[in-house]
Amino acid sequence: MRDVAVIGVGVTKFGELWDRSFRQLIAEAGAKAILDSGISGGDIDAMYIGSMSSGRFVGQEHIGALVADASGFSHLHIPATRVEGACASGGLAVRQGYLSIASGVNDVVVVGGIEKMNDVSGEAASETLATAADQEWESFFGVTFPGLYALMARRHMYEYGTTKKQLAEVAVKNHSNGALNPNAQYQRPIKLETAMNATMVADPLGLFDCSPVTDGSASIVLCAADKAKKFTDKAIKIIGSGQGSDTLALHARDNLCTLEATVYAAKKAYKQANVKPSDIDVAEVHDCFTIAEIIAIEDLGFVKKGEGGKAIENKITTLDGELPVNTSGGLKAKGHPVGATGVAQIVEIVEQLRGTADKRQVKNAKVGLAHNVGGSGATAVVHILEAM
Ligand code: COA
Repeated sequence: MRDVAVIGVGVTKFGELWDRSFRQLIAEAGAKAILDSGISGGDIDAMYIGSMSSGRFVGQEHIGALVADASGFSHLHIPATRVEGACASGGLAVRQGYLSIASGVNDVVVVGGIEKMNDVSGEAASETLATAADQEWESFFGVTFPGLYALMARRHMYEYGTTKKQLAEVAVKNHSNGALNPNAQYQRPIKLETAMNATMVADPLGLFDCSPVTDGSASIVLCAADKAKKFTDKAIKIIGSGQGSDTLALHARDNLCTLEATVYAAKKAYKQANVKPSDIDVAEVHDCFTIAEIIAIEDLGFVKKGEGGKAIENKITTLDGELPVNTSGGLKAKGHPVGATGVAQIVEIVEQLRGTADKRQVKNAKVGLAHNVGGSGATAVVHILEAM
């Protein structure tokens, strides 16, 4: 296996982007990443694009070729492939790009992620997202993702005494970080009482326990590490990549308080990277709901199982805490354009390890982790990155 580095990153503004088309968004993120990397179109060996449900959100399938076309590369005939794994589509696209270089097949790969979710009504967006749950056992009966994560939250509260206040603390932290991110959907801090008293969505999860419905795109350029110098002196190495799967339906799992797919993916990534959870300086974890961040920091080994809520309350994961988590604002405040999320997480970690995260910069960040989940945990991807 060859070493692989991220040599360029680009991201659009996240939010309700009524004035931008699907192809404008992906072209903007891709152009930014390519400019940042120092490559030109002729250097690209392949493209991988994460998109969960462009067919239902904007009526467009065949995204791989569309992205190459919208980027102005159709005349180069670059192999361009769409990757889908629900909300983990972006992370999976990163992993496909990574594997294609690590294996020696490609030298330079552009990875993109995109979703434009606001062109349909809120109801249609929920219904589309619910296609990533188990149709026969869950979606058919009307369950949507807020409902599924609410079940996990209730069980976590029952098993470990996790409180609604602790859930709200996740939202307060991530909105506070989002306020420092010019690309975030929500750039305003919120008060604890606001989060705790917000409109109920699926008990115990209120409005501020949920990630929003978002338009946006992110892109990165990957390169064989030994060739990175040719293009840039700010390469960041991917030192671990792991992926895991689990049952689609929640009821089929032994334990509602853990995502086994995350545990599996993290174990593989830590082993390959030869690092421990305590070596991680900064992490972007999949907080599609506040309970998901609590479960993630436990499953990734940052704290013991059951202690995630307390860790949040004790400010361990704030920007100036022991292990800053979701410095970008996370899915909660930065936004969650589902196919783009996994790529955008890598963008944030690269900015942190380059030392260019501006007001969100974590001091002396050397090793970072990105964790992306599909659905209620049937897919998980973990990447670990290190400054070169
Ligand atoms: N966090 C904070 N504010 C939010 C928000 C969120 N998640 N969602 C909406 N808002 C705000 C809007 O900006 C708007 O504010 P404004 O009146 O100041 O403009 C207001 O709340 C109403 O917005 P609206 O779009 O009408 O909300 P909604 O009730 O249709 O949707 C949710 C709210 C929570 C149902 C929706 O965001 C949702 O479905 N989130 C989950 C998405 C999901 O499941 N993703 C996949 C995860 S696996």
